[in-house]
Amino acid sequence: SHAIIIDTDPGQDDAIALLLAAASPELELLGVTTVAGNVPLALTTLNARKVMELAGRRDVPICAGADRPLDVPLVTAEHVHGDTGLNGVELPDPTLAVDSRHAVDFIIQTLREREAGTVTLCPLGPLTNIALALRRAPDIAARIRRIVLMGGGFFEGGNVTPAAEFNIYVDPRAAHEVFNSGVPITMAPLDVTHEALTTAARIEAIRALGNRVGSVVAAWMEFFERFDEEKYGQDGGPLHDPCVIAFLLQPDLFSGRVCNVRIETQSELTRGMTVIDWWGVTGLPANAQVLRHVDSDGFFALLTQRLSALQ
Ligand code: BDR
Ligand code: CA
Repeated sequence: SHAIIIDTDPGQDDAIALLLAAASPELELLGVTTVAGNVPLALTTLNARKVMELAGRRDVPICAGADRPLDVPLVTAEHVHGDTGLNGVELPDPTLAVDSRHAVDFIIQTLREREAGTVTLCPLGPLTNIALALRRAPDIAARIRRIVLMGGGFFEGGNVTPAAEFNIYVDPRAAHEVFNSGVPITMAPLDVTHEALTTAARIEAIRALGNRVGSVVAAWMEFFERFDEEKYGQDGGPLHDPCVIAFLLQPDLFSGRVCNVRIETQSELTRGMTVIDWWGVTGLPANAQVLRHVDSDGFFALLTQRLSALQ
């Protein structure tokens, strides 16, 4: 079993990751922290509240975090997710309150309270909150069990520039600090998420669950990343962030390699690129487990089955 904190910028795929985690009894969801990314912080926080209410999980604290990257202006992705970040279906205004603690304080406090080596961080957006927590409280690095994140891309290239994936591009400084923190990292880059495609048949199987969550998730999948589908000529869009939660639940769905990963922070051309030493040519020490492939049928079977347990 895993105790986890999900740091997120919902986003339809973030929302589906939250639902998957909320529906999975082997995960102890200690908190949801929000960050500016796909849309500004006020919206990612509102969306996290809506989604946790939809999941029927009023017991999980939701803490708002950084409203901008460490040292560059915020770049958002309304062209992918719609102006609310959760376009595709209208969810009711949440009654669930935001926790009074700042996300960074919540992360630090939780890591210090819990037994060392037991809490996994799951960042699904820019790494700003995680980097701020590590800056403010360097002692937590040794207490984090590991970080399992969605971000980066190598063989697939980038999705916001030819070189960079969105989450890393938005806050490259934060990513650099996290990858150099010494905390064990597993990353699900575009190389793996571009194999997790929301085909028509997979969307229909989720809608056919017949519950409210099934119809909401199907509508989200039909809205977001249609952009990618047209652009990359794929059968369905990539379902990025739920790969992180699926990896915790069923790691054998994934394959990858342990290697050195560096983040480009200087170059204008390749800002936010994850330079993955897949072939071990640098001799630099490994700092991440890089996922490369996913059993996509197994992944969607897991997701669909778990969503059936929600309202
Ligand atoms: C990542 O960027 C966001 O748009 C998605 O939510 C995902 O976390 C994919 O590049
Ligand atoms: Ca995200």
